[in-house]
Amino acid sequence: MERDFLCRYGVYQIYPISFCDADGDGKGDLKGILGKLDYLQSLGIRTLWLSPVYPSPMWDMGYDIADYFNINPIFGTMDDFDRLMEETKKRGMRIVMDLVVNHTSDRHPWFLKALGDPSSPYRDYYIFRPGKGKERKTPPNNWTSTFFGSAWKEVPNEKGMYYLHLYSEHQPDLNWKNEAVYQSVKKIMEYWMDKGVYGFRCDVISEIYKDSLEDGKKGSLSKPIGSEHYIAKRGCHQILKRLRKEVIEPQNGVLIGECYGVDRNQAKDFLGDELDTLFGFEITDPGLLRRHMRPKDLKRILISWQDLSCNGNYFENHDQHRAIGKYVREGPFEKEGAKMLIALLCSLKGIPFFYQGEEIGMKDYRSLSLSDSHDVVRKFLDAFLKGYFVPKPLREYLSRKYGRDDARAPMAFTSQEGHGFTKPNVQPWQKFNELSDRINVAVQEKDETSLLNFFRQCLSLRQSDDALSLGNIHFLKSDPEVLLFLRLKGEEKRLCVFNLSEKEKVVPDVIIENNTKTLLLSNYYQKEIEESLLPYECRIYKVV
Ligand code: NOJ
Repeated sequence: MERDFLCRYGVYQIYPISFCDADGDGKGDLKGILGKLDYLQSLGIRTLWLSPVYPSPMWDMGYDIADYFNINPIFGTMDDFDRLMEETKKRGMRIVMDLVVNHTSDRHPWFLKALGDPSSPYRDYYIFRPGKGKERKTPPNNWTSTFFGSAWKEVPNEKGMYYLHLYSEHQPDLNWKNEAVYQSVKKIMEYWMDKGVYGFRCDVISEIYKDSLEDGKKGSLSKPIGSEHYIAKRGCHQILKRLRKEVIEPQNGVLIGECYGVDRNQAKDFLGDELDTLFGFEITDPGLLRRHMRPKDLKRILISWQDLSCNGNYFENHDQHRAIGKYVREGPFEKEGAKMLIALLCSLKGIPFFYQGEEIGMKDYRSLSLSDSHDVVRKFLDAFLKGYFVPKPLREYLSRKYGRDDARAPMAFTSQEGHGFTKPNVQPWQKFNELSDRINVAVQEKDETSLLNFFRQCLSLRQSDDALSLGNIHFLKSDPEVLLFLRLKGEEKRLCVFNLSEKEKVVPDVIIENNTKTLLLSNYYQKEIEESLLPYECRIYKVV
C-alpha cells in the first residue's frame, strides 16, 4: 500500500544546506524548507526526502552523523523540525529521513568512547583490527575506501591498531555483527517513526554487513578493492528483514535503499520483505571518459532495471551531475530533452525520484575551481591522483567528473540577488550556479512552456493515472535510440514513446497504425508530426 503511494506520487529530495536559507547565514535550513512548502505543494509533491539534518561535523556534508537524535544547529532546532512535521502533515505531505548507519562520524560519542577505552563495550560497535607484519605497520587487509586510499586508519595513540572506514577516515564503519549495533539503530528508527516520519532512505545500505575481512581481489574507480566481501551479503538481508518487520511494518512506513555496488540481479533480492524500492548505480555511469551517456546505453539500462518489481527511478541526486549534459546534450534542444527526462520518470514503472532544481533544469557549473569546491571526493581524488603523477588536465577532468559539487549549488528561486535562496548580500555556503539569473523558479513560473510547468503537468498526469503509476510495463521493439512501451492496468492502456536522442526519428508503426489513440502529453507544442519524432520528443497516448 505504502509502496503504491510512492509509485503514484513520487519523492522529492531536498539537500537542506542548498535549498533555502531563512536565517541568512548562507546555509539552507528547516525554516527555509517550511517557507517553501507551498511551492512544493504546487509542484504536486507529497513525499519529501531530507538529506541528513542531524548534528555533524559536516566532513561529508552530514553523511557523517555525530548524534542521531537531534538537529544540526545550522539547520535549526527540534522545534523547527516538529513544526515542519506538523505543516507537512496538514498538507498531506510526508517526510522520509536519511538514515546513515554504515558508519557514524568519528565525533560520535560511541566512537569517542571506543577510542578512549579499548575495553569499552563501544569498541565492538566498530571494526578494529591489528595491522599485519612484525610491527603491524601494514593495514589488516588490502581494502580501499570508496573515497580512495586504504580503508584502514591507524588509531591515534595505539600503534599498530586500525579501524575500518569504507568512506573517509572521519566515517568509521559500524560493526553490524554486533547485536548491540542493531538494537541501537532500531532505537534511532523508532524515535523518528514515533515523531511521525514516513520512513527512511538508507545510505549505502547494501554494504553494512562485512562478511569477512579477507583481502579483496580487484577494484576500480567505481568498485573499491574488497567490496566482494561486503556488498549484498546474507547478513545484510537478514538485518533488513528484521528492521522491516520490527520497525517499519508496525507503523506502515517505507524503506528506500541506496544500493551501491549492487547489480540488477542482486537488487531483486532486496525488494519485497526488505526494501520498498532501491537505487541502483548503473544509470549514473556514462563510462570513464564520457560525460554524456549514449542514448542506446540509456535505453538498455532503463529497460533492464524495469525488470525489478519496484525500481527507484532517478536521474539526479546530491551525488550526481545534473541531467542536462549527462543524459541529454546541452544545446538547442536541451529544454525538450529535460522535459523528456521528466516525462520518462513519470511514465516508468516504479517510484520516480526528483532532486531539487531538476524541475527547472538546473545545470552543472560551467566551471568550479578546486578552491571553490566543498566536496571531499573531489579533494581526495585530486590528492590521490597527484600521488600517481597523473597529468594535470586528466586529474582535473577526473576530479571534476567524480566530484559532487555540481548538484549542490544553492537552489535558484529568483533572479534577484540571493536568488530567493538567501538574503541579498549574504554569501551562500557554495557559489551560485552561473546561470541562476536565467534558470530559476520565478522566470519559469511566468512561462507557460517552461520545464517547471511541464513538470507539474507530468506529475499530475501520473498521479491521476492508474496505468502510468501502477500498471505493468511492456517494451516494444523500436529504433535503438527510441524507447517505446506500454503501461497496462486492467482495461487501461497507455502507449509511451521517447526519442532519447537529439536526432529526428521515424515514428514507430505501432503509433501510426493505431487509430484509437488520444494524445495525453507531449513536450512539443505544435501539432504532432505524423511521420517524425523530433529531437527528444516524447508522447504519451491513451489507447482504447
Ligand atoms: C552515499 C551518499 O549519498 C553520499 O553523499 C555519501 O558521501 C556516502 N553515501 C557516504 O555516506
